[in-house]
Amino acid sequence: MIQNPDAQVFQMFPIPLYVTTYRGDTTEFTKYFNSQEMNPATSGGGYGEISKNSYIIDNPICKPLADFFMKCFEDFATNIMRYKYDKLQFSQSWLTYKQPGQFHKAHSHPNTLLAGVFYYDYQPDDSALCFSKEAKSFNRSHLEPSLLDDYQDHPFSQEELYFKPQENNFIIFPSWVMHGVPPNKTNRVRKALGVNALTTGTLGDKETISEIIYGRYAK
Ligand SMILES: [Fe+2]
Repeated sequence: MIQNPDAQVFQMFPIPLYVTTYRGDTTEFTKYFNSQEMNPATSGGGYGEISKNSYIIDNPICKPLADFFMKCFEDFATNIMRYKYDKLQFSQSWLTYKQPGQFHKAHSHPNTLLAGVFYYDYQPDDSALCFSKEAKSFNRSHLEPSLLDDYQDHPFSQEELYFKPQENNFIIFPSWVMHGVPPNKTNRVRKALGVNALTTGTLGDKETISEIIYGRYAK
């Protein structure tokens, strides 16, 4: 870190990654997840396999899990992001598989606010989730100095952060954050459940000319 003993460095605009654990029994959910049909990976798609059903947690079987996710999303939206909203709702929720050798290229989740991932079948040697600092050229200087070899070990120069989840972790991050999964180097399928959330009814407000009324465009 810095050499000057009389200097301080402040983190100005950190990005939150919310990590918690579902403590209930997942046997029934896992059975239901494992009964789902998957779409085959498209060649060159770079995102592995995704379930045909992309509203997985809308099934009443998942109610306890969905309630838990919603509580976490609300905690994050209100207490971390300070969103002003009436209610949140789930948008899509889907199973995401990586067969051996498959990976998920860096991406963000468009047309939603919050992204969640539930690791209901995570094994210690499964690929981590790789977050990337780069967000479509935002927050970057136009001048690009070369960096010292250890730049990934320092918080202000780090460009990639590997998050290693634990079994039944549920994580939330803003949907614009770029993330991906390195190749699955095990001989088993890496499984997770993705879930997006956004506000119900409206987004933004009339006064600041930022309003979306979802129903207005639903015809
Ligand atoms: Fe994703």
